[in-house]
Amino acid sequence: MSILEVQNLSKKFGGLTANQDVSMTVEKNSITAVIGPNGAGKTTFFNMITGVYQPTSGIILLENEKLNGLKPHVVCQRGISRTFQNIRLFNEMTVLENVMVGMHTHLKAGLFGILFNLPTTRKEELATEIKAYQLLEYVGLDSFLNEKACNLSYGAQRRLEIARAIAASPKILLLDEPAAGMNPKETKELTQLIKKMRDEFNLTVLLIEHDMKLVMEISEQIFVLDHGEKIAEGKPEDIRNNPKVIEAYLGSGAVHAG
Ligand SMILES: Nc1ncnc2c1ncn2[C@@H]1O[C@H](COP(=O)(O)OP(=O)(O)OP(=O)(O)O)[C@@H](O)[C@H]1O
Ligand SMILES: [Mg+2]
Repeated sequence: MSILEVQNLSKKFGGLTANQDVSMTVEKNSITAVIGPNGAGKTTFFNMITGVYQPTSGIILLENEKLNGLKPHVVCQRGISRTFQNIRLFNEMTVLENVMVGMHTHLKAGLFGILFNLPTTRKEELATEIKAYQLLEYVGLDSFLNEKACNLSYGAQRRLEIARAIAASPKILLLDEPAAGMNPKETKELTQLIKKMRDEFNLTVLLIEHDMKLVMEISEQIFVLDHGEKIAEGKPEDIRNNPKVIEAYLGSGAVHAG
């Protein structure tokens, strides 16, 4: 069963076509990858799904409901959370606070409750804090709760972004290069974490990644973009041997396949 359906999505920035008629069906509960050389249009594709950019044309459907035209926070409420290629954390806030911010969209207490410190608000805040703590434990950051986010290592910051994204209880988690800047050990742990989250949170994971070992190991379905167009889709074994894909990567001067 599909959860996300993208039909003929295009995005133009002036004269530059970043995405051209990209169509994809993402299966519910799958781990699906979007790969392609630098500048292929992968992040632009995520930005359209999450409402950061409006598509020039095309349709985005989450569980058969149109997402076009919705603002990013509304897309998040509908059930799509993401991490960013360039990490976006609140650097001066603590690790715990960063995750609590991720839960904000689901909190019932309004400003009134917070200002007047109503018992229901306190209760909700406590519940938020407990959940945030549990998520940090889950991603292995529970010993850094009160540390400022900017003091974490690069790999830890990426895991904090994941914890924050998960805090919104999404149906779909979009990860934009989650392994970038990680060492092999961290990448291996991340691979396990992604699988575990998919299974335990009943998630669908859509990820952009240049680390082909990670992609080939965890993806059930792979979509390949090149110069804004989808040039291939299939299972890892099909993609690995697809001449068009090999050509795209060779042409880009960077050989990642293998
Ligand atoms: N806001 C923007 N304004 C103008 N051009 C943009 C904008 N965002 C992206 N582009 C262009 O669109 C193209 C696709 O960029 P995008 O960031 O989507 O590629 P990518 O596949 O994510 O690349 P990478 O692997 O390097 O992250 C590039 O040529 C880029 O310069
Ligand atoms: Mg990108």
